[in-house]
Amino acid sequence: MYDNRPVGIFDSGVGGLTIFSEITKLLPNESIIYFADQKNILYSGKSKRELEKITSNIVRFLIKNKVKLIVIACNTATVYAVDYLRSKFKVPIIGVVPVVKTAARITKSGRIGILSTAATSKSKYQKDLIKRFANGLIVNNIGTDELVPFIETGDFKSAVLNKKMQNILKEFRGIDILALGCSHYPFLRDKIQKILGPKVLILDSGPAVARQVKRVLESNKILSNKKSKTKFFTTSNPADFKRIVEKLINAKLDTQDMAII
Ligand code: DGL
Repeated sequence: MYDNRPVGIFDSGVGGLTIFSEITKLLPNESIIYFADQKNILYSGKSKRELEKITSNIVRFLIKNKVKLIVIACNTATVYAVDYLRSKFKVPIIGVVPVVKTAARITKSGRIGILSTAATSKSKYQKDLIKRFANGLIVNNIGTDELVPFIETGDFKSAVLNKKMQNILKEFRGIDILALGCSHYPFLRDKIQKILGPKVLILDSGPAVARQVKRVLESNKILSNKKSKTKFFTTSNPADFKRIVEKLINAKLDTQDMAII
């Protein structure tokens, strides 16, 4: 039995493309609808109530577009809204959180870092993750909202970005594992590695999310055997969005693949 309906993936912007790429790599037959809520970026800084409302509207839109499963490709939306969305909608919903458990398991120094948005780092969800999986370790749980705008514009060469990164990453002195707790940050992996040095292992959640998507599709017997074109939606400017998506996933898109809602 196959189910060729698409998988819906959403984020506040282009960060979720890091998870999109892992999913398409592991599940090349799956059709995807990618939704970027750029009008509402940053999610970090919005209240729980606001995030529940915003993400409910996205889930409704994706369900209208006949998705069979939804991936919240945003840590901030996950930690504040996943329980609410799961209680409200029947479609399977998979979220993303930093891989604290893996980081805690493989650290040798006993000191790990988590780099997320300010909202995620402050959240009860993340604090509980740390308590549950990294008890007894030193955890540098650092949140910042300053890096996301550079990724949204593809401004990776900016000297200002570099300076901000130098400053933020100082907080991670002594760690041997860094878990990225924002789906935008894998786009900065090389830069982070350069600043922290080769001895620090950087982990993102993309591969784990892709494996979880596969498990849920398999167990519900809803894997696809025929891929159709990926569709991209933004709540902001489609021309700008197209340009940045093409740069980040290194692909050429047709204008018909893009839409504004
Ligand atoms: N991509 C989002 C995340 O994973 C961060 C961006 C935002 O706060 O809007 O947390």
